[in-house]
Amino acid sequence: MNKKLCKISFEQNYPDIHLNQDDNLSEHLTVQNSPILFGCRTGICGTCLVSIKGDIPPPTEEEKEILEIFAPENKQARLACQIQLTNDIKISPLT
Ligand code: FES
Repeated sequence: MNKKLCKISFEQNYPDIHLNQDDNLSEHLTVQNSPILFGCRTGICGTCLVSIKGDIPPPTEEEKEILEIFAPENKQARLACQIQLTNDIKISPLT
């Protein structure tokens, strides 16, 4: 069975991107096609801090710990490199 396609849209002026469910955002978003920047891509550096609108699984305990450091006040904050893509989402960078 084919995987579901998920639409990634941005608050800024970038065209939507369509990725397969469970694709890793850090492998598909670039400085050319999105406003999101990545550093470590392993959930440690906080470079990819974003605000997400959309229905995706909650952060793991590891991601929560990093979010507590970089965005303790923002409940919508997530690490783009750690997101499990399951639905359409809208992203805006927080860094
Ligand atoms: S790129 Fe470093 S935390 Fe996501």
